[in-house]
Amino acid sequence: MRTLRQSTHELLICADAAELAREAARRFAGLAEVFTNDAGRFTVALSGGSTPKAMFQVLADKAFADALPWCSIYFFWGDERCVPPDHADSNYRMANETLLSKVPIPPENIFRIPAEDGDHKRAAADYSETLRTFFTEERPSLDLVFLGMGPDGHTASLFPGTTALCANDRIAVANYVDKLQSWRITLTADTINRARNIIFLVAGADKAPALKEVMEGERNPEQYPSQLIEASHGALLWMVDEAAAKLLSG
Ligand code: 6PG
Repeated sequence: MRTLRQSTHELLICADAAELAREAARRFAGLAEVFTNDAGRFTVALSGGSTPKAMFQVLADKAFADALPWCSIYFFWGDERCVPPDHADSNYRMANETLLSKVPIPPENIFRIPAEDGDHKRAAADYSETLRTFFTEERPSLDLVFLGMGPDGHTASLFPGTTALCANDRIAVANYVDKLQSWRITLTADTINRARNIIFLVAGADKAPALKEVMEGERNPEQYPSQLIEASHGALLWMVDEAAAKLLSG
């Protein structure tokens, strides 16, 4: 494992996806302890994807789970597919099956995005209201946001060339993704950037070209939306595996 510290972010390169999942779980546990000791609660937004799934499986393991203050941890989501919560594509379902149903977390600590309703804009507005009410702030700041990144440089459901990239006056929006022919609900980049900690989890050689563009290329967030994510209110950590990092210089 290697760590590279830059002025804007920290980059941690793990040997493979399994080490990445273990290290991400360790970071989660460390932050959970700090925030629950200092503030009495820990607020986290989860993402979909295979890399977070591997981390959830580690967290659900007794060795981690028994030591975590579940009653003080509150889960939100960075994005959701517009399907019912028991659908195979649901990000909530994935987190629920791999982690939430296996640990003693109170159901009232779980704030999924209600994306199954056909009125996607209403769902995004309702979720924005849920966040405003929970945080009692006009622009909420989560303690931690986990993000993945797709091979096209998208993160959360901020896809290249979509309207959500320009919605930074909002907390969450409905975003139509032409290439998927479907709607997603996503936090905006502004909401993600207000987090005290942002952790990207990126594994696999298919992510290497996008990772290089996002980290070392010209600024072009329309094409590589992950470039919109910056540590404006806290810390930004990129956790990647060697395969994803293989085109990075240095
Ligand atoms: C989703 C996401 C998405 C995901 C990336 C990376 O619901 O699809 O939240 O942004 O995190 O596509 O996914 P992988 O880790 O599976 O590559």
